Amino acid sequence: MNKEVTLNKIFLRTFGCQMNEYDSELVRSILEAARYVFVDQETEADIILLNTCAVRENANRKVHGAVHAIRHKLNGKPAFIGVLGCIASHLKEELLRDRNFPIDFIAGPDSYRQLPELIKSVVAGPGACPDTGDDDKKGQPHLVDLSDFETYEDIYPSRQEGVNAWIAVMRGCNNFCSFCVVPYARGRERSRAPGGVVAEARHLSADGYKQVTLLGQNVNSYHFGQTDFCDLLGMVSEVDGIERIRFTSPHPKDTSNTLIEVMAINPKVCKHIHFPLQSGNSRILQIMNRSYTKERYLEIVDHMRAQCPDIAITTDIIIGFPTETDEEFEDTVEVMKKVEFDSAFIFKYSPRKGTLAEKKYLDDVPEEKKTERIVTLNKIQMDHSLKRNEAMIGQTVPILIERIKKEEGVSTAAGRSDGNKLVVVPDQNYQIGDFLTVTVMSASPHLLRAEAIDE
Ligand code: 5AD
Ligand code: SF4
Repeated sequence: MNKEVTLNKIFLRTFGCQMNEYDSELVRSILEAARYVFVDQETEADIILLNTCAVRENANRKVHGAVHAIRHKLNGKPAFIGVLGCIASHLKEELLRDRNFPIDFIAGPDSYRQLPELIKSVVAGPGACPDTGDDDKKGQPHLVDLSDFETYEDIYPSRQEGVNAWIAVMRGCNNFCSFCVVPYARGRERSRAPGGVVAEARHLSADGYKQVTLLGQNVNSYHFGQTDFCDLLGMVSEVDGIERIRFTSPHPKDTSNTLIEVMAINPKVCKHIHFPLQSGNSRILQIMNRSYTKERYLEIVDHMRAQCPDIAITTDIIIGFPTETDEEFEDTVEVMKKVEFDSAFIFKYSPRKGTLAEKKYLDDVPEEKKTERIVTLNKIQMDHSLKRNEAMIGQTVPILIERIKKEEGVSTAAGRSDGNKLVVVPDQNYQIGDFLTVTVMSASPHLLRAEAIDE
């Protein structure tokens, strides 16, 4: 019996950010073209793929936990486990040698075109893997080289249903923030040709998507020839049928006045920006290699609010970066209080192997201190999220329906406002993808409750 033909059922699980979600859609598309089929349960699969995230230590731990949980669930049933994504390229062969990590092969984010061949060789047995060009590791199935060019330009991702489609417009990062593993795990920055991005948006519109989110590790540093990110937003907004354009994540250092102007005047570009602060202290920002100061960050926020008063601003913050003192932490508190973010993801610093911070500094902020700081910031953020949401009570806004939920006989529809707030309304036979005009009636830190108005 030919093992290559029969062992074709794949289970794919994604960890981490939207870029990984997008990459999983690329992987699906590549493997479906090679006649693999996707199943919903690990136990039905011949090959289990985990598309992993290495950005923070607990993301890493989650993947380790998942591998053991899957082996346990399989209860001895043979299946090949492959690790894709950032952990694969960050930890490379170490992963394969680790006896406590029972996996069969790894493939980094720039190697997905070769996945069908890699899987075929794994299934065929030891010694049959593609030549990775690394003599020392011959015989171990791994493809982890990073590319300066790969953008998967010609591959149309196999998307799950929904109203939003991700489009990666650039990959990799050249910024080398000292805490961040992305430049090592995903390689150098490269942008896709604008024509390809626009063609993908047209294709998506024809497939019924109403919203696209342009993705990049540092999305506003997109440039291709003479086309910069603002030009690209303009080009995508000309695609009929695409009603909303979002993007994530921009870097403050590349946030130009022109970008703010585009957000203010282009009705299709949503009035929401995820604007990572990381720290509110200029010395910490400098050793994080973030290229802006506390004052510059606040200046950009002021400019955004002046140009675009309704803009929703969300952020990422790291507390407990090495050497951060209590006074320096207070600067972050101060910036939060000045900006009043709509929401914030707040993380404890965790050292990532190979990064500048890991090489240069001890992880010297005690765990109890990190906990104290994260609790303080989360509490402040909860108050701000509630305040910003309450300010919307009484406003009439359009929402795009994403989900219909039935609970105990009551049906509700959930959608997003232009500012990306989750809005829940009583369902009246709405369809996913409907635009609805609603009046906001009440608010909590996490969502708005609204009623549809008759038009
Ligand atoms: N420790 C803690 N948080 C981190 N992030 C990235 N690297 C680290 C790290 N080593 C956070 C940053 C980034 C988000 C995606 O993850 O806030 O914006
Ligand atoms: Fe990481 Fe900084 Fe690049 Fe973002 S901009 S991916 S935080 S190195």
